[in-house]
Amino acid sequence: MIGLAVVVALATLAVGVLVALGLRLLPSVRLQLAGLALLAVTLPLAAVFLSGWAMFHMGDDVKILAVAAASASVAVAAGLLVAQTIGTRIARLRDASTELAAGNLEVRAEEAGPRELAELARSFNAMATDLQRLFDARRELVTWASHDLRTPIASLQAMLEAIEDGLAEPEQYLPSLQQQVQTLARRVDDLFELARIDAGALTLELRETEVGELVDACIRSLTAEAASRGVRLEARMGPARVRCEPDKIERVLLNLVTNALRHTPSDGAVAVLVSAVGPEVEISVEDTGEGIEPGAEQTVFDRFWRGDRARSGDGAGLGLAIARGLVEAHGGRIWAERRREGGARISFTLPAV
Ligand SMILES: Nc1ncnc2c1ncn2[C@@H]1O[C@H](COP(=O)(O)OP(=O)(O)OP(=O)(O)O)[C@@H](O)[C@H]1O
Ligand SMILES: [Mg+2]
Repeated sequence: MIGLAVVVALATLAVGVLVALGLRLLPSVRLQLAGLALLAVTLPLAAVFLSGWAMFHMGDDVKILAVAAASASVAVAAGLLVAQTIGTRIARLRDASTELAAGNLEVRAEEAGPRELAELARSFNAMATDLQRLFDARRELVTWASHDLRTPIASLQAMLEAIEDGLAEPEQYLPSLQQQVQTLARRVDDLFELARIDAGALTLELRETEVGELVDACIRSLTAEAASRGVRLEARMGPARVRCEPDKIERVLLNLVTNALRHTPSDGAVAVLVSAVGPEVEISVEDTGEGIEPGAEQTVFDRFWRGDRARSGDGAGLGLAIARGLVEAHGGRIWAERRREGGARISFTLPAV
């Protein structure tokens, strides 16, 4: 008797594995699920029926067959129903991805249904959002480049043509030519830095550095500009050492102080403050200018963002985006505020040593 049970159990197992392997060859999830339902019911019933028949030579096998057939049909129907729902959800997801591939970046899949399919829809939507952001960034870049790079190039061209046609002396245009070339070089440089930040290709050579030295260097290089604008430029700081790549942090400081000078009217003041706050060093650049536009405290860090009052200026809207990328690459934070006494304050932190 035990021998028979072992044989039936082994045979059931073998048939089950073979049919399950075979089911994987069926062309749709719907058929695979229906087949699984059928297998799940018929196999145990067949095993029971076979053992019963072997043991008692029952005469009631027709009834058992009928019960087996009925329960198998119910299971198949249930399997088909489940398969139908899954199939519909998959079809919707397929339609959404076809639409996305056709260029409609607004399309999103419904995040409902069984957990796995809802997760699939969620990651599809995340992918679509990323793709849309990427396309928006590309469009932004093209718009930006077509204006901010073409303008200095056009003016260079005009000046060179004027010189060529003998309408102007080269010496007359030399300073402007130099200035336009410098602007172009700075913009290309900024774009390159931003691309490296985006690509995560920034390799920082961290060194222990005294923040005061970086601030001094920055102030020294901008003293002349501050004087020509009639703005007082000063630093208030205590000793503070950080781990950073000095060139990058100097670049951040230059961006912030240049902005502050650009937005502060004459007779105003710009100050760089350094203080150690717990495990971090906080560096702030304050000015007495018009301040950050209300509500723009976050957006000032977006690339190509320029405040209305600054649109006529020669900024490209990249300085703060680069500053944020560099500070975050050092493990710090950067934020902007409107000062209560008027003017703007942009602060960032760096890990102290
Ligand atoms: N100190 C500040 N006071 C007032 N507004 C500011 C200040 N700093 C930045 N902003 C606003 O934030 C915008 C973005 O600054 P960001 O440095 O990114 O670009 P930009 O200075 O216009 O150009 P770029 O730095 O590329 O030459 C500025 O156009 C300006 O509107
Ligand atoms: Mg700037």
